[in-house]
Amino acid sequence: MLKADLAQFPVVTDAKDAPPVPDHVPPELVLDTRIAAGIVANDLAEPYTVADAVRDPEFPRIHYYPWPISGNRHGAWVVTRYEDIRRVYEDNDLFSTEGVAQFQMLAGETFPSIPLGIDLPDHGRYRKFLNPWFTPVAMNEREPRIREIIGGMIDEFADKGEVDIAYDFGRVFPVRVFLDLMGFPMSMFEQFLEWEWGILHDPSIETKAEAVRGILAYLRGFIAEKQENPDDTLGSYIANGSIDGKPLTADEVIGMTWFLWLGGLDTVASTVSQMFRRLAMFPELQAQIRSDKSLINSAVEEFLRTQPLVNSGRKVKHDFEWHGVKIKAGDWVTVYNTSGNFDEAQFACPHQFDPARPNNRHFTLAGGLHLCLGAHLARRELRVLLDEWFTRIPHEFRIKEGTDTTVVPSLLSIRNLPIVWEQKA
Ligand code: HEM
Repeated sequence: MLKADLAQFPVVTDAKDAPPVPDHVPPELVLDTRIAAGIVANDLAEPYTVADAVRDPEFPRIHYYPWPISGNRHGAWVVTRYEDIRRVYEDNDLFSTEGVAQFQMLAGETFPSIPLGIDLPDHGRYRKFLNPWFTPVAMNEREPRIREIIGGMIDEFADKGEVDIAYDFGRVFPVRVFLDLMGFPMSMFEQFLEWEWGILHDPSIETKAEAVRGILAYLRGFIAEKQENPDDTLGSYIANGSIDGKPLTADEVIGMTWFLWLGGLDTVASTVSQMFRRLAMFPELQAQIRSDKSLINSAVEEFLRTQPLVNSGRKVKHDFEWHGVKIKAGDWVTVYNTSGNFDEAQFACPHQFDPARPNNRHFTLAGGLHLCLGAHLARRELRVLLDEWFTRIPHEFRIKEGTDTTVVPSLLSIRNLPIVWEQKA
């Protein structure tokens, strides 16, 4: 590793736009690792290599990032190695999710995000309630509908030889699948995306708060409607749900409906955009999967590993010392999955895309208790997509000439990505 690489991450001495750094944080550990956090766009074929230097033996094993991440209002300690990240996800005595992704606070709301913002033992009760909708067996039942949505959309452009895979396809189909699952009307599609963009991607706190108010007012009306007219959708199941014989409270119902809305909307969309960027840049990978579809399941796992969109945060419950650093109760810790998914100690040749990689235990869908509830749904959507794509469009595709191929290596990802292919007889 070159010293120059470490110089990309300078000590922060005067972060005017950051909240105050707690006194117990050594000043030399307050580092600007925005590049490694995946919030700065780049145009590399392997966009996540920018985070490699934070695993250098000369780089501190744990450092402090002073700016808020993911809607929070505080800085956080950061760990970057696979082993350390696993500890954060799995040590429930030390780390809590209370207050994680609590965007609703911006609108003065106090209900928790369920299940993400809930610790043991209540977390288990909520997962038990929701899990039946997200098991592999439930996905088997849902798959024909997913296939119909994806296949129908591909057929609309297959003969045209061109599609904006990010904006016109990736952005749209996972939302259609999700609206269908929850029982939201399709007519809400554009409005949902606008609110979601406002909450997750707009830098202005006022825009975020406005979007949170808009969606919560809508969701409360939706819940009331499902209570009035129950049906067989997940939205109705939650609105009329009970756990251990006790009906869910209004806070529990909105907490679950809201968080599913937030978690299920654009994660798959960003994954699709980055997946097709790679496929379009590497035609030999297309050819490999096209000619051997038995690779699809493991290839999806490798796409997920090489595109970690979310760096999770956790709140520290007790004072403790880690890698020689004193960490206090109430501090926050962020895991850089943007780095951990490429840790050489866990993954051989981590930047080599291996569609058949064995034992691919990455953190893109998190780990421990809060492992993504929608993991099987996301995987199923991506598998069906590759299967239907290579059947319906058996031609090599590439990125349209002149296209901006920059990507933000996180949820922000790619807005537009036109790809083209030639029709062959
Ligand atoms: C490729 C797509 C997806 C990715 C990359 C992803 C990623 C994640 C991550 C990293 C977490 C943990 C967050 C944390 O630790 O702070 C999570 C949790 C969660 N995700 Fe996903 N997700 C995806 C798709 C979905 C979908 C489609 C849904 C729902 C329809 C969903 C619903 C949830 C829920 C409810 C949780 C909270 C689980 C819990 O706290 O027990 N996700 N997801």
